[in-house]
Amino acid sequence: MTTTELPESLISTLPGHFYTDPQIFALEQAKIFEDMWFCAIRSSDIPTPGSFRTVQVGSESILISRSRKGEVRAFFNICRHRGAKLCTEAAGEVARAFQCPYHAWTYDLDGKLIAAPNLTKMPDVDRVEYGLRKVHLREWLGYVWVSLADEPPSFEGTVLQEVVDRLGEVANLDHYQVDTLSVGRRIVYDVQANWKLIIENFMECYHCATIHPELTEVLPEFADGYAAQFFVNHGADFAQDVKGFTVDGSEGLEVLPGIDPDQDRKYYAITVKPQVFINMVPDHIIFHRMYPMAADRTIVECDWLYLPSVVEQGKDVSKSVELFDRVNRQDFDACERCQPAMSSRVYRDGGVLVPSEHHIGLFHDWLQNKIQA
Ligand code: FES
Ligand code: FE
Repeated sequence: MTTTELPESLISTLPGHFYTDPQIFALEQAKIFEDMWFCAIRSSDIPTPGSFRTVQVGSESILISRSRKGEVRAFFNICRHRGAKLCTEAAGEVARAFQCPYHAWTYDLDGKLIAAPNLTKMPDVDRVEYGLRKVHLREWLGYVWVSLADEPPSFEGTVLQEVVDRLGEVANLDHYQVDTLSVGRRIVYDVQANWKLIIENFMECYHCATIHPELTEVLPEFADGYAAQFFVNHGADFAQDVKGFTVDGSEGLEVLPGIDPDQDRKYYAITVKPQVFINMVPDHIIFHRMYPMAADRTIVECDWLYLPSVVEQGKDVSKSVELFDRVNRQDFDACERCQPAMSSRVYRDGGVLVPSEHHIGLFHDWLQNKIQA
């Protein structure tokens, strides 16, 4: 199945059931979120040995923690004895080890089974074999990316290549030194919409003039409805009277030192499949990660990243946070407005994409190839 061409430069969207059908969502979990590199947490979320976070990756709960030596480790959050969920909290800290709440099997911070009641009576239990099942991970941009595949795809050939495709070269993102920045604010949105509606919305700016009054004040080109993709290589210019990327156009924070002159007073936005959106402006980065929870529910965790000095000195970041927080709420409201219609008979065969949205058809083709593979 490929995207069907309609007359007059309209392309059909995916049929409505792609956004509601649990079977399609299960295929997406297996073939996309569990197979590709999935951006799971910010490394600084687990600052010290024993600190951990648990996140949903596809259909699996994944436990990400820091070892005694300070290295990041990722495991399936499942006890190897009888399968109890090991950590039920979203985040926390253990002193030395993870202990299963069911029969008290205990695993060290490297995942090795170190204790179990009466284990002396079972000398044959291999403590490595029955350790926590490890997950492949990479750290990049200050985030921990995981892949649940037995043999993960090449990180360079997928994640980094996508950045190259979008920005010309990875260096254009490297200038922002995203890994060195600090989280100035994090907002978690619980969006009652399918993850693809959120991606599709992020990929187009046809809606910008209608729903983003503050954003189009700062970035007047967006009012013309060009695709967000249109701006990725050369960026979108700030309006002449705008001083910074803030809700009222007032001065921003300290500019990131590594950026090029042509990255100043500009906004760049990229998507990294399957679940990351990155917005780059001169003084901060807005980094979105989606956690698709169900066909009709997606949690979006959004970090505003600034120079460490800005965060340490407690500078007021509220005006820059407020701009994109409003944009996010406007976007997610729009996605939630569409979600109920996905199961309407009117949308059984889908809707249409106008020319400035045609690149969304490429995303649909990509998606269908992935889940049919
Ligand atoms: Fe974890 Fe039994 S299920 S110790
Ligand atoms: Fe938008």
